[in-house]
Amino acid sequence: MDRIDLAIIGGTGVYRLAELDDVRSFDLETRFGAPSGPVRVGRLGDRSVAFLARHGEGHSVPPHRVNYRANLAALQQLGATRVLAMNTVGGITERFGPRVLACPDQLIDYTWGRISTICEEEGSEVLHVDFGEPYTESLRRMVLDAAKAAGVPLVDGGCYGATQGPRLETRAEIARMRRDGCDLVGMTGMPEAGLARELGLDYACLAIVANWAAGAGPQVDEVITLQDVLDNVEAASAHLPELLRGVLDRMNAG
Ligand code: HPA
Repeated sequence: MDRIDLAIIGGTGVYRLAELDDVRSFDLETRFGAPSGPVRVGRLGDRSVAFLARHGEGHSVPPHRVNYRANLAALQQLGATRVLAMNTVGGITERFGPRVLACPDQLIDYTWGRISTICEEEGSEVLHVDFGEPYTESLRRMVLDAAKAAGVPLVDGGCYGATQGPRLETRAEIARMRRDGCDLVGMTGMPEAGLARELGLDYACLAIVANWAAGAGPQVDEVITLQDVLDNVEAASAHLPELLRGVLDRMNAG
C-alpha cells in the first residue's frame, strides 16, 4: 500500500472526489466495525489521497448513527495520519453566511448518546487526551495557506457547535449557541474530532456553510430546505479541487 498523504472525509453533498486518478476501493472492517462505505484511494497529482463519504455514498447514514470510530480507524488502517474533515454546517454569526468556507479553531459538543471514545470496551486503556485545541494547528495552517495562495476565500477560525440532529435546531437553541460563542452549527463535528485526537491523527475541519442556522440570517423566519443546503454546498465546493491541490503541495514542501 502506498503512503497516504491526506485522508478526506466528505460531508453532506460531498460524496466523491471526481479529481482522483487511478482510484482503488477498499471495503474494510475495523476493530470498531465497518465504516460508512468504501474508502476510495487515488492520486491527485503525485500525492496519494484517501476519501470516505461520512454518511455513505448514497447518504444513508444519519449523523447520530455514523460509526465515527470505524471511519477513522479505516483511514488509519490504510496508513493515513492526517485527516481533513469536510463538514456541511449552518452559519450563526455574521462572517459565516451561506457558501462561506471556514476552518474553525474551536468547538463545543452538544451531542449525546454517541460512542465518543476508543476507551469504551472493557479492559481498554483509559485515555484523557489534551483537547484544549481540538484541531491540529499545522494542518489548519496548510489549509489556510493553500487558500490564500489560490485566492480562495476561507475564514480563519470560528467555533463549531456540534448538535445531535438529525433535526435542525430551534431558534432558541441557536440563540443559546450564539451566547455560548458558537459561530457554526453542524451535526458531525463530534465525536469525530475527539476520536481523531485519541487515535493520534492530525485532524482539521473544512466547514462549508450551507444555510443560515435557525433565526440567524437576515430573514428570521426562513425555512431551511435540503435543496438549498445541497445547492449552496455545490456552489461553495467549486474551489475545493484547487484548495486540495494547494494543501497537498504544502505537504510536498514539508
Ligand atoms: N444545523 C445543523 N447542521 C447543519 C445545518 C444547520 O443549520 N446546516 C447544515 N448542517
